Amino acid sequence: MKRPTGKPTRRNTQGVATRGRPGRASATPRLPRGHGGDSAKTVRVFALAVPGLAPLVRAELEDHDGLHPEDAGFDGRADVVLFGAERGSRVEALALTTAEDVFIEVGRTLRAHGDEPRWIAGGLWGTERVQRALSVWAELAGPLRARMTFRVIVRTLSERSFRRTELRRALTDEVGRRQPKWRIDDPAALELWAIEYQPGRFVAGLRASDVRMRQHQGRAAERTGALRPTVAAAMVRLAGEPRGRLLDPCCGSGTLLAEAQHRGWQGFGGDIDPTAIRVAHSNSPHAQLVVADARAIPYQDRVLDACVSNLPFGRQYGVEGPMKPWLHAVTAELTRVVRPGGRVVLLSPEQLAHVQSGLRLLRRVPIRLLGTRTTIWAFERRGASGQRESGDVKRKAG
Ligand SMILES: C[S@@+](CC[C@H](N)C(=O)[O-])C[C@H]1O[C@@H](n2cnc3c(N)ncnc32)[C@H](O)[C@@H]1O
Repeated sequence: MKRPTGKPTRRNTQGVATRGRPGRASATPRLPRGHGGDSAKTVRVFALAVPGLAPLVRAELEDHDGLHPEDAGFDGRADVVLFGAERGSRVEALALTTAEDVFIEVGRTLRAHGDEPRWIAGGLWGTERVQRALSVWAELAGPLRARMTFRVIVRTLSERSFRRTELRRALTDEVGRRQPKWRIDDPAALELWAIEYQPGRFVAGLRASDVRMRQHQGRAAERTGALRPTVAAAMVRLAGEPRGRLLDPCCGSGTLLAEAQHRGWQGFGGDIDPTAIRVAHSNSPHAQLVVADARAIPYQDRVLDACVSNLPFGRQYGVEGPMKPWLHAVTAELTRVVRPGGRVVLLSPEQLAHVQSGLRLLRRVPIRLLGTRTTIWAFERRGASGQRESGDVKRKAG
């Protein structure tokens, strides 16, 4: 294991600790510059997301004038998106629907500047950004007290030079040395996360969110197999601008409908299981719900603007008979009820690219959910784009 050389420490333009003669830093990898640089108005923030969702978190950031995506990576467990948040938009960072957690950055460093736990710990916590990050943390998550409890969480992509736990110990010692009144605890008021978001690149931040962020408004009633709200939000975003009626034909507990309604869609839900419909009603009271088989949706042709669904697969919910004909029947129904130009967004590990000629594949987003690989498929209903049929969605009896 390398040891720090004891050479004088300098700070580069990003406030990252570097060693040796001036100019040496230019020979090593550079850290990306933040939007707005060190402007007093912009604070550096990073978000963690379900693996695969980083492009959708970026897209959500771009919807906000005051949030500026900079860089992205993966820490071995979650996607990481680094961004700048202008003063007036900091609270918006905590309202991102596609991210699971948000952190106020305290520092960045590179293994290339010293691949040793104490050196990395010094680079992450030793910067002047800590004081600023603490005051932003107090504003968003506080209160900040002289005697805080804290804990350190570390994720590394490699243990070739040192173990993850060694860095956690070094960072805990560094914080304890600089904040002698703070006490280690678990749970703690303050969580410091240090993660290697790209090979050799570390970022550390104070966790500003808690579990409520990833649970969104929370579900009034639970049912097994419910989708993660952040994935539901990402799928609803792929359905396009919220203009009109959106159906989830396998709605389960109604997670997608709750997200769709939050975004401005009028929600419609179906499920073959009457218990699911009762649970969905508690979670999404404004949606129109019906007990129905997704292979025979009781709606008229072209009466919907979008369909978004987490199809039954895997251990919790299977389908009757073989998957292929089931998928064909369901996608044929979705193609029938959605207007031309409308979107169909499905979560399924099955290959859906060629499942239905009436649907044109716009985008596939591979993600990992609880360690399982699956894919979000976003289609557009073929045909001359037009208005949906107006009037009642339901098929007339007889
Ligand atoms: C993966 S779960 C959906 C979970 C839901 N997104 C949530 O967050 O709770 C799949 C759902 O499909 C329903 N289902 C299975 N076969 C169906 C069919 N033929 N038609 C409609 N729903 C069906 C199951 O009852 C189950 O609620």
